[in-house]
Amino acid sequence: MTPTDRIIVALDFPSIEEARDMAKQLRGRVGVFKIGMELVYSGGLELARELAGQGEKVFLDLKLLDIGHTVMSATKAVSRLGVSFLTVHAVDEKTLLAAVEGRGDTALKLLGVTVMTNLDAKDLEQQGIAGLSPRDLAQKRAVMAANCGFDGVITSGHEAAFIRQSLGAQKLIITPGIRPAGADIDDQSRVMSPAQAVDAGADYLVIGRPITQAEDPVKAVEMIARELAS
Ligand code: C5P
Repeated sequence: MTPTDRIIVALDFPSIEEARDMAKQLRGRVGVFKIGMELVYSGGLELARELAGQGEKVFLDLKLLDIGHTVMSATKAVSRLGVSFLTVHAVDEKTLLAAVEGRGDTALKLLGVTVMTNLDAKDLEQQGIAGLSPRDLAQKRAVMAANCGFDGVITSGHEAAFIRQSLGAQKLIITPGIRPAGADIDDQSRVMSPAQAVDAGADYLVIGRPITQAEDPVKAVEMIARELAS
C-alpha cells in the first residue's frame, strides 16, 4: 500500500455539489472517499454510486444498528451500490452476523465501530456498561467483530496498538482523529499525527478538515503523504 492509499478523505459537506467538487480535486491522489450521515441525507448515495462507478473506493459510514433482518437487508442493498467499505456498530453478535449474511459473497468490506471516541467511562456507565474502560470495551468488541467475519474496525489511534495485539495482522484498523503537525484540532480531543497512527498499527487514516478545509487540499494531501513516506 502506498502512503496515499492509506488516506480516507471524509467528504463532510452539506451539499453533494461541494463534495463532488472536492472528490474531483483529489481523484487519484487519495485512497478512499468517505461519505457519512450528513451527506447521505443530502444526496450522498447518488455520489457514492457515481464515484464507485468511476472506479473510486467509497466508504459508506452509515454505522448501522437495528434488528438483524433490517441490518441484513440494508447491508445487502449497500453491497449493490459498488462501494468498498461499510460501518456497523459492533455491539452484539446478532447485528454483526446479520451484516455478514447481507454482504454475502460480494467484495464489500465490513468495519465494526467499537466505542465512539467521544465516550468516556461515565458515558458507558450511563449506558449500563460498568466496570469496563472504553479501551477494554473497544478491544472486546473488536475481537467479537473479527470472530463474526468482519474485515476490520474503527478505533482511536490511541487504542490501535492495543487492539492490533488482539486482532493480528490480517484485520484492518481504521483511525479517525488525525491531525498533521500544526493543523487545527477542531472538535477532536485525542488526536494523533498520520505517522504516529500508522506506527501504532493503523492501515487507513480518516482525515477530514485538515484536507477539505485547507487552502490547497491537494497540497495538504501531498504533505501528509510525504510525512507518511518518511
Ligand atoms: O474533520 P475530521 O478529520 O475531524 O473528520 C473526521 C471524520 O471521522 C468525520 O467524518 C467523523 O465523523 C469521523 N469520525 C470521528 N471519530 C470517530 C468516528 C468517526 O472523527 N470516533
